Amino acid sequence: MHEADFDVAGETAIVTGASQGIGRAIAETLAAGGANVAICSRAQERVDPVAEAINEAAEGQCLAVECNVREREAVEAFVEATVEEFGGLDILVNNAGGEFVAPFEDISPNGFETIVDLNLMGTVHGMQVAGEAMREDGGGRIVNMASVNGQHAAPGESHYGAAKAAIIRLTETVATEWAEDGVRVNCVAPGLIQTPGVAETLGISSEDMPPREQVDRRIGYGEDIADVVQFLVSPAAAFMTGETVTVKGVPRPGNSMSNTSELGLQ
Ligand SMILES: NC(=O)c1ccc[n+]([C@@H]2O[C@H](COP(=O)([O-])OP(=O)(O)OC[C@H]3O[C@@H](n4cnc5c(N)ncnc54)[C@H](OP(=O)(O)O)[C@@H]3O)[C@@H](O)[C@H]2O)c1
Repeated sequence: MHEADFDVAGETAIVTGASQGIGRAIAETLAAGGANVAICSRAQERVDPVAEAINEAAEGQCLAVECNVREREAVEAFVEATVEEFGGLDILVNNAGGEFVAPFEDISPNGFETIVDLNLMGTVHGMQVAGEAMREDGGGRIVNMASVNGQHAAPGESHYGAAKAAIIRLTETVATEWAEDGVRVNCVAPGLIQTPGVAETLGISSEDMPPREQVDRRIGYGEDIADVVQFLVSPAAAFMTGETVTVKGVPRPGNSMSNTSELGLQ
């Protein structure tokens, strides 16, 4: 009889943008599963407490590094520090990202470039730098954070939607190129997830969140995404590459996560 293997124990994982929100949930989940995790954000003082909490509670160890994913040299130093600390690199989760909501005509060239740089180029830097280490060392697994806004249009999300759509195609393309090197590359496309970033951007409160068992008419927990990431990097997903897994429950007809009023969230 076959038993599915979701094990990540003893693996080394990088999770970018893990001082809060989805990235933190992913780092905690992988570490709870016994992986050593290296996490980053733009500020050492914001990732240090997360690493301390993981090192106290989890089986795996956690290294916290200040790294802006928009800066190639910082990403190179982050990957180098991770390999030095844990002796290799098996998993990369390109989670760092963000946005502001604005009509297309109001977004300045600088504003547009910033969102594309953070979401798309941050992912490119991570994939190229970590991918080199993985390919030299016999393979690895990469998960990129897309969004339902990269799959379906929503007003106010032109810059973010364009960047996330590009991440989906980037994932598909690189998956075909690196398969022979043993590197699997997949995407997760979350719907609306309760995080500090969403609270700030959309003004959504996390009070009275329905339980995870409820699949419709709720927004997601970071853990809803983290569990899918763990699946994608585990042996259970050995035959999956170049895919985008949508994780959004049933928010409302039409698939967009932009209209939160129908969920009673605004
Ligand atoms: N929440 C949702 O509903 C949702 C839906 C779809 C997709 N997503 C995607 O999921 C990912 C995480 O979203 P979230 O809601 O958890 O975001 P969040 O609460 O805003 O957290 C973003 C994280 O990324 C870090 N970060 C931001 N810019 C960075 C940079 N340049 N370099 C390194 N780290 C950086 C932040 O840390 P510092 O501020 O300390 O640097 C923070 O840890 C993003 O890619 C987002 O686009 C989220």
